[in-house]
Amino acid sequence: MTAERLIEVSNLVFEYPDGTPALRGVNLEIFSNEFIALIGQNGSGKTTLAKCLNGLLKPTQGYVKIDDLDTREKGTTKKIVTKVGYVFQNPDHQLFNNTIYKEIAYGPRNLGLDEKQVNERVHEAARVCGVEEVLFNEHPFFLTKGLRQRVAIASILAMRPRTIIVDEPTTGQDLRQSLEVMNFLRDLWQNEGHTIIIITHEMPIVAQYAQRSIVLGQGKVLMDGVTREVFAQPELLAQTFVKPPQITRLAQAFSHVGFSPGTLSVEEMTEQYREICQGKS
Ligand SMILES: Nc1ncnc2c1ncn2[C@@H]1O[C@H](COP(=O)(O)OP(=O)(O)O)[C@@H](O)[C@H]1O
Ligand SMILES: [Mg+2]
Repeated sequence: MTAERLIEVSNLVFEYPDGTPALRGVNLEIFSNEFIALIGQNGSGKTTLAKCLNGLLKPTQGYVKIDDLDTREKGTTKKIVTKVGYVFQNPDHQLFNNTIYKEIAYGPRNLGLDEKQVNERVHEAARVCGVEEVLFNEHPFFLTKGLRQRVAIASILAMRPRTIIVDEPTTGQDLRQSLEVMNFLRDLWQNEGHTIIIITHEMPIVAQYAQRSIVLGQGKVLMDGVTREVFAQPELLAQTFVKPPQITRLAQAFSHVGFSPGTLSVEEMTEQYREICQGKS
């Protein structure tokens, strides 16, 4: 199966109305069934880029095309939300209905689907996200943050976008909740064929889940490639104050004895250690 291009970003410049230059000429292509991490220090433009990728913000210069649909064209919003979904960093900025059912139904209703179809969409999205039907009449406010985030993702999934962007899915969650939401996103990628883009500051999460990493610095793409190769260049990463995971840095510190600078896990490091020892004996 060859990868299909889903999103094209060309010379994208974005300035906020107050004149803040948030993106200064971004070029990118996003393909089908990718798992991407968007990384970079605070203020580097990650959230702004994500919002441009789903048409929430329109380019100041350059363009974003989604399946050849230009986000600058008027009247494209309804089509775009069925192609690219954006889950806000704080689910509380996204959830505003008084029951979970209404929350998940909101998008499909807005698309003009009839109630039977809406009901099907709600059940499907809730099932995929592990939101139990017994919760449908609850107020989102009474759920844990992890569950609120699943409801936020379900409300996006109900519009069936191929690409799903999740802004800082693990911030403010404990390790167990973080792994739960990450494994869930991996499942959407592996089993449902979605393209997943996560925005995160947690490099071990990037190493474990993302095949591709895009590093932003001051509104520009500094690096874009296979995660292992991106982490293998600590000097470039340092420009945007991103540090590779500890295990990668340990391997880099011992690269002179044969460890690979692109090591991503303890298992990989152990395996290399075995090989190095065997080479010596
Ligand atoms: N609503 C806004 N109005 C003006 N400037 C903004 C607004 N939102 C973000 N910015 C600025 O745009 C730049 C990029 O911000 P953002 O995309 O939020 O970065 P990140 O998500 O990487 O932290 C920063 O300089 C930030 O201060
Ligand atoms: Mg942000």
